[in-house]
Amino acid sequence: MSALAPSPLSAGVPSPAFIAPGESVPVAAEGSTASRPRAASLETGEESPVLVTGGAGFIGCNLADHFLTRGRRVRVFDNLCRPGVERNLAWLRARHGDRVQPRLGDVRDPHAVEAAVRGCGPVFHFAAQVAVTTSLSDPGADFDINARGTLNVLEAVRRSPRRHPLVYTSTNKVYGHLDDVALGVIGSRYEPVDPALRHGFDEDRPVSFHSPYGCSKGAADQYVLDYARTFGLPAVVFRMSCIYGPRQCGNEDQGWIAYFLRQALSGQPVTLFGDGRQVRDALHIDDLVDALSLALERIDRLAGRAFNLGGGPARTTSLLELMDLIRGLNDAPPAVEFAPWRAADQRYYVSDIRRFGAAAGWTPRVALPAGVARLHRWIKDNLPPLAAATSAAASANAR
Ligand SMILES: NC(=O)c1ccc[n+]([C@@H]2O[C@H](COP(=O)([O-])OP(=O)(O)OC[C@H]3O[C@@H](n4cnc5c(N)ncnc54)[C@H](O)[C@@H]3O)[C@@H](O)[C@H]2O)c1
Repeated sequence: MSALAPSPLSAGVPSPAFIAPGESVPVAAEGSTASRPRAASLETGEESPVLVTGGAGFIGCNLADHFLTRGRRVRVFDNLCRPGVERNLAWLRARHGDRVQPRLGDVRDPHAVEAAVRGCGPVFHFAAQVAVTTSLSDPGADFDINARGTLNVLEAVRRSPRRHPLVYTSTNKVYGHLDDVALGVIGSRYEPVDPALRHGFDEDRPVSFHSPYGCSKGAADQYVLDYARTFGLPAVVFRMSCIYGPRQCGNEDQGWIAYFLRQALSGQPVTLFGDGRQVRDALHIDDLVDALSLALERIDRLAGRAFNLGGGPARTTSLLELMDLIRGLNDAPPAVEFAPWRAADQRYYVSDIRRFGAAAGWTPRVALPAGVARLHRWIKDNLPPLAAATSAAASANAR
C-alpha cells in the first residue's frame, strides 16, 4: 500500500482551494490504498453528493441543476478556466444555496481530484479541454487535461473505499475523419452513399483517433472502458456528438450552435469553415440530462460499455441549413463568411443512438428547430451581445 505519489504532470498546477463558507476541504490522506475489492455496494444513495467534474461548464451545470432540483447535493469540481462558466456556478449557488459544494481545482492535480472524490457518490467526469483547435496549438496541455486528468479521476475512484458509478463523456471524434465513407451532395448537405448508414454510425465502427483532441479524449475513453474491465469499475462512456442548449458558452472553437446564434444576435458575421455542407446530429441538453440520469440508474447493466449519443438521424443539420433556421429566428439575417476547412473536421457524422435507447429506454424528445428556437430565446434574454472587437479576436484566435 503506498501513498499517492505526486504526479510530475501536476507540477505548477494549483492545489484545490476551496471555497464555500463553512465547509472544510479534506486533505489527501496519507497512505491512500491501491486497488480495493469491488465488493462494496454501489454508491448511488441519496445521502452522498454527486460529483461533477467540469460542473461549472455547460453540460455539468445543467446536470448539477437536475440533481439539485431533485434534492441531492452536488459537488462541483472545476478550475473555471473556460471564460463565462463562473456565471454558471453563481447561477447554481443562487438557485440551490449550500447544497452546491464548489471545489476549485484542476483535474491535472491528483491530490485535488482525490479530495473531491472522497465522500461523494456517483461521479460524472466532464472536465476537459474541449476544442480540437486548442489541441492543435497546445497538444501537451490537451493531453495533460484530457488523458492524464481522466486517469487521475479513475485512480481516485479505484482507490476509494466506495464503489462510485462513473460516467465519462467522450466524443464522436474517436471515430476519426471517416474518410472511407463515400459521400454525395444532396442540396445543402453531404449524405452517405451507403443506405446502411441511414441510422448513423454505431459503436462497432473501429476507433481511429485523429487530432490531438481525438487522441487525448480517445485515450481517456479507452482507459475508462479498461478500468471497468480490469478493475470492475461501474463505468460507462458516452461518445457524444454536438450537444446544445442554455448555459453554453459557445465560441468558434466549440459549441457552434450557441456560437452561431450569439453571433447572429450580436449582428456579427458567422464564419463557416469549409463549404457549410458538413452534417452533424445535435442533441438538446434536456435530452442529454435524461440520458445521463438513466445511465446512472442502470449503471449495473451498462457498465463497461461505450454508447454513441447525439440527436440521431431525426435531428441532423448541415451548417448551411442551420443558418437558414437562424435566419427565420433572428430579426436581422446574419452575414455568412467562408474560410478553408479546418483540420480533423468530419464532413458527415450522425450518431446511431439505437443501442443506448434500447439499453436504457431512452428517446430524445426535443426536435432540432424547437431546441434551436429555445436556445435563441435564452441567449437573447440572458447574454449581452458580443462586441465586434471580441468577435474579431475570436476569429483570429481560431485560425
Ligand atoms: N458540448 C458538446 O457538444 C460535447 C460534445 C462531445 C463531448 N463533450 C464532452 O463533454 C464534456 C463537457 O463539455 P461541455 O460542453 O460542458 O464543455 P465546457 O467547456 O462548458 O465544460 C468543461 C468544464 O471543464 C472545466 N475544466 C477545463 N479544464 C479543466 C481542468 N484542467 N480542471 C478542472 N476543470 C476544468 C471548464 O472550466 C469547464 O467548466 C467534455 O468532456 C467534452 O469533451 C461535449
